[in-house]
Amino acid sequence: MAESDFMPLGGWDHLELWVGNAKQSAFFYEHALGFTRVAYAGPETGLRDRASYVLEQGEIRLVVTSGLRSDSEVVRFAARHGDGAKDVSLQVPDAGVAYREAVGRGATSVAEPRWLEDEHGRVELATIATYGENVHTFVNRADYAGPFLPGFVSLSPNGRRDTGVGLIAIDHVVGNVELGRMDHWVEFYERVFGMVNIVHFGDDQIQTEYSALMSKVMAGGDGKIKFPINEPAEGKRKSQIDEYLEFNEGPGVQHIALQSEDVVRTVEALKGRGIAFLDTPETYYEEVEGRVGEIAESYDDLKRLRILADRDEDGYLLQIFTKTAQDRPTMFFEVIERHGATTFGEGNFKALFESIEREQALRGNL
Ligand code: FE2
Repeated sequence: MAESDFMPLGGWDHLELWVGNAKQSAFFYEHALGFTRVAYAGPETGLRDRASYVLEQGEIRLVVTSGLRSDSEVVRFAARHGDGAKDVSLQVPDAGVAYREAVGRGATSVAEPRWLEDEHGRVELATIATYGENVHTFVNRADYAGPFLPGFVSLSPNGRRDTGVGLIAIDHVVGNVELGRMDHWVEFYERVFGMVNIVHFGDDQIQTEYSALMSKVMAGGDGKIKFPINEPAEGKRKSQIDEYLEFNEGPGVQHIALQSEDVVRTVEALKGRGIAFLDTPETYYEEVEGRVGEIAESYDDLKRLRILADRDEDGYLLQIFTKTAQDRPTMFFEVIERHGATTFGEGNFKALFESIEREQALRGNL
């Protein structure tokens, strides 16, 4: 795609969450979600103001970070927004070039290009701002063989890893923005990243009895990177996007979708580890087979585990959503398995939103 040549993206690098207590969050991602902790940085390694744990599963790399004093920017972020995603970090061949292209196209600078070095080699980083208090860090790690970044120490010197739950890659990262701001951010990802809008759902398509929302999906990096962006729309009651914006105190990451190689096995394993998923009503399973048609999996398994199925013109996909990952009704996770489908089916949006609304009603926010 000629129009995206100015910003070649190699893929996701890592996703950094800023949280109230990284030590306990890391334990959750290890023991509940099947990640292996591979690296650490904190006071013991010379990092004075924060502690960061790096967790991996398949190609997914999560970093959870908390601040150590009340004047820390990480502590202030977590106090305002609750635990949530801060940095959606992307691999590029040249972080300096990516940064200059982005800033030249109107992106706000957060950190200028800089090289970090240790005995494992060197990494180039540069950071720009996006919606809310979120950022994108460009990473060029072609000359680096260490566990994560210079300054981090390896936590698995013997190479032993958790067997995991079958999660293999980040699929997409969804942002919630304020009413009327979706198109602003769509235009931002077009202009700054050369991304293209691959799906658009209007409020006529995504609406339940109570609320509606609009969503556009931006894609880049030859389709590897997908950023859906949601905004609330008028409904009879408070939109679930409004609930998010209220409790997150502004825009932020709504959900992180992780690909599974076998969603039935992954969901069984996650449920066994205590992860709570959104429920789907019995009626969904009365019509799903007629809507989606033949699939390799058993519809009985999908119904038993409350997994959703959908189809686009290229194939089908299976997906399920966790309940929110913290007490605030903000961020949650999705598990998705793609069989050819490259976008997002329309059929599941309504089922998802109705599930969220049942939870919203229980919280007294509908
Ligand atoms: Fe999603």
